[in-house]
Amino acid sequence: MSSDLRTSTSIVLFGPPGAGKGTQAGNISVATGKPQVSTGDMLRAAVKEGTQLGIEAKGYMDAGLLVPDSIIIGLISERMLQDDASGGVLFDGFPRTIAQAEELSKITDVSLVIMIEVPDEDIVERIVGRRMDPQTGEIYHVKFKPAPSDVSSRLIQRKDDTEDTVRSRLDAYHLQTKPLSEWYIEASKETQLRVISVDGRGGIEQVSELIEKELGR
Ligand code: AP5
Repeated sequence: MSSDLRTSTSIVLFGPPGAGKGTQAGNISVATGKPQVSTGDMLRAAVKEGTQLGIEAKGYMDAGLLVPDSIIIGLISERMLQDDASGGVLFDGFPRTIAQAEELSKITDVSLVIMIEVPDEDIVERIVGRRMDPQTGEIYHVKFKPAPSDVSSRLIQRKDDTEDTVRSRLDAYHLQTKPLSEWYIEASKETQLRVISVDGRGGIEQVSELIEKELGR
């Protein structure tokens, strides 16, 4: 791993829904020493707890739409005040709009953006087959990463992991989030920011190896 990733700057893990951000985040977090901060996980926790924020976010999430920037910025600003964020974090699924990225730049410096590239045609199968272990948070897939038999009975499927909702999430991605990749690439030409693009079409191990290789450069 390059030594500058051990500084107090943050890392952004970027990609379409189902690209494998959550799957790869654990290894990247260990390799860089940065805690994973997933806005999707934080929103799902708020929905489960029935907080005001969760109630506001739920309708957007169920419809496959982005939750308004103001809610997300509030969530992240609060999270970044926690002790474990002082050395920078690994953002998973954030920022998702240019407005979020602009607000983020006021809170922490981003030194690395890892873009996992997966075409739309691979996304639907990945999302619809995804299962989660509610006890450990582990992510499985009925075909690509089957769960061990002792946990398979307790697996759950995310409410937004239906074929219809995936299409809406992909639309939101192309319209609101994808332009951010160009925004970061432009920023990298004028700053120390490093943007790496990883082919996410291979198997889980293969993608892990590609990311590991890039982190070692
Ligand atoms: P969020 O939870 O962030 O969902 P997402 O970005 O749509 O990403 P996913 O969690 O679906 O996919 P992933 O890339 O982590 O893939 P995974 O590793 O699980 O957001 C949910 C909702 O919250 C949004 O729709 C929005 O409403 C709201 N939200 C969240 N953040 C927001 C923000 N910043 N702004 C506004 N709204 C926000 O992998 C998927 C499946 O594929 C798994 O089953 C896995 O086992 C499998 N898999 C992974 N890699 C591979 C591989 N290489 N080969 C084969 N299978 C693989």
